[in-house]
Amino acid sequence: MIVLSEKMKAVGLYKYLPIEDPESLLDVEIDKPSPGEKDLLVKVKAVSVNPVDTKVRSPKDAEEKQPKILGWDVSGIVEKTGSDVSMFKAGDKVYYAGSIARPGGNSEFHLVDESIAALKPKTFSFEEAAAMPLTSLTAWEGLFERLGIGMSKDENKGRTILIIGAAGGVGSIALQLASWAGLTVIGTASRSETEDWSKEHGAEYTISHYEDFLPQLKKLGLSEVDYIFCLNSTDQHWERMMEAITPQGKICSIVETKTPLNISLMQQKSVTFIMEFMFTRSLFGTEDMKKQHEILTEMAKMFDEGILKTTLTEILQPIDAKTMRDAHSKVESGKTIGKVVVSRKEE
Ligand SMILES: NC(=O)c1ccc[n+]([C@@H]2O[C@H](COP(=O)([O-])OP(=O)(O)OC[C@H]3O[C@@H](n4cnc5c(N)ncnc54)[C@H](OP(=O)(O)O)[C@@H]3O)[C@@H](O)[C@H]2O)c1
Repeated sequence: MIVLSEKMKAVGLYKYLPIEDPESLLDVEIDKPSPGEKDLLVKVKAVSVNPVDTKVRSPKDAEEKQPKILGWDVSGIVEKTGSDVSMFKAGDKVYYAGSIARPGGNSEFHLVDESIAALKPKTFSFEEAAAMPLTSLTAWEGLFERLGIGMSKDENKGRTILIIGAAGGVGSIALQLASWAGLTVIGTASRSETEDWSKEHGAEYTISHYEDFLPQLKKLGLSEVDYIFCLNSTDQHWERMMEAITPQGKICSIVETKTPLNISLMQQKSVTFIMEFMFTRSLFGTEDMKKQHEILTEMAKMFDEGILKTTLTEILQPIDAKTMRDAHSKVESGKTIGKVVVSRKEE
């Protein structure tokens, strides 16, 4: 007897094309996946679009034989669990970013290793939850692990952080976490809308990312900052960051560079510079991969307690190629505030 595999709808690509091209993202039908031992099979309710989607999709000559599925920010309901899953059961409502080494979640069903998933915040809609995992993990790992910022207000009293690109997806949650940890937060924003949004989300001050930082800090009566969290154009901001960081200060960037950086500029002030990549743990299957389950669980608690708020700003429906192309265009503009989410229309 031939067993036909079950099919599901997804949004995928064969060719890497500009987003204006209707073939850049297509409605496709692919096999419904089966969970591996540690996997959750999740019925996807909402996904958010991040710059990683537009970067992976960016025009190039390669072609795919099977549709490539993007989407690394998901909320949904566990439909089935793998044989070794111990933390979740069918019916659980979850949120997660997933792994860049596996297909994304722009599909009806999606697989994720349980060690990088968590129960979604109970008080959040699926859309509010889908907005959060990737940026939350990036901000938490960047601030508390890579920069080593402590989590007690006493420890951080009088310390300052400059968050570059404050009103974007990562910035909007990083502002909240840094402010919660008791740091004085300065965000960079270039428009009145992004200045206002940054102040609503934890920035005490805002300065522009199109001018040198130190003169602007001095104008505000501030001096060099203890930490910098760079969320945009690392190479463009490199010299400004070296000028604005305090001696022995720490800088974390989450953005790859187009040109080599002059690390000699770090020497005189003994600056520490570190990169954060949210997918490192899942990509290399590090021993502490479960830390992402723990971070998302802790943050779900903070969302439910009202300590942190969702950064969702726009919901598009349904999850199909046309809507997804629209969402990609918005994110590609580099001007989005908070997060754009695409959700399934309730059946
Ligand atoms: N390493 C990782 O794990 C990781 C994780 C997440 C994201 N990322 C990367 O981090 C970057 C930011 O991600 P995101 O989701 O926060 O992006 P996003 O939401 O698209 O960021 C939009 C914001 O960027 C600001 N911006 C535009 N040009 C800027 C510049 N030259 N300097 C500083 N800010 C600028 C804009 O502010 P104004 O409108 O005020 O100009 C806008 O509010 C992306 O490159 C993304 O791929 C890396």
